[in-house]
Amino acid sequence: MKGIVLAGGLGSRLFPLTKITNKHLLPVYDKPMIYYPIMTLVDAGITEIMVVTGGSHAGSFLRLLGNGTEFGLKGINYAYQEKEGGIAEALGLAEYFADNDKCVVVLGDNILEKSIKDEVEKFDAQKEGGRILIKESPTPERFGVVEFDGDNIKRVIEKPEDPPTNYVVTGVYMYDSQVFDFIKGLAPSDRGELEITDVNNMYIQKGQLKYSKLDGWWTDAGTFRSLLKASNLVAESRGKKLET
Ligand code: DAU
Repeated sequence: MKGIVLAGGLGSRLFPLTKITNKHLLPVYDKPMIYYPIMTLVDAGITEIMVVTGGSHAGSFLRLLGNGTEFGLKGINYAYQEKEGGIAEALGLAEYFADNDKCVVVLGDNILEKSIKDEVEKFDAQKEGGRILIKESPTPERFGVVEFDGDNIKRVIEKPEDPPTNYVVTGVYMYDSQVFDFIKGLAPSDRGELEITDVNNMYIQKGQLKYSKLDGWWTDAGTFRSLLKASNLVAESRGKKLET
């Protein structure tokens, strides 16, 4: 199983914080943001990891993460996304690294309280297809929103004005090697990006997308409010650990 952290994009919602650095290098409590998705993958037992980044600060990732020894890794692989072509475009750059293996993808601005080890094991046992992690959100319109048909997911709608449910797709995606063919068949959305939601809908159409409800808190850190929330959540959970 391969691990992929997607840390491209411009981080324009955090301007001017992102004027002179990459969003994923900003602090979330006591660590750079990018540490958290890497730790999520390492904790799940994944040792082969690629970081996809872009923009004019890509070199800083190398200086910060080096060979990943801080995470107990023997090395980290890197890929460079030329433009902000979307999450699915960034993932497409990892095709040669995935090398027909299954992969667990974590968005570089997603921070999770708990381990995803059990979910990765469930996916490992899956013969084919994909698996997403969903979570109830008070602001579903900011995310990919899940519409159900009984117990199954009927479709995912990207940032709907009128969300059919409060269940949103978190930035943890598990895919088999079909994902790279799906990405090649995508057309850019209205915002000019290759959308990961379209990939998920392709798996749904094939009846191959499974899901789990995520345990513990989860947040992205891509807006001023969510960046602050992420720092507060991490600080609180550290506090709890210190007390016990
Ligand atoms: O956080 C979960 C949400 O992430 C999902 O619910 C949505 O369905 C999904 O589209 C995404 O929504 P956002 O609009 O919040 O994604 P954003 O553009 O902020 O990108 C999230 C991360 O993906 C970003 O931190 C780095 C990576 N990314 C993004 C783009 C646009 C890339 O690596 N390359 C890119 O071109």
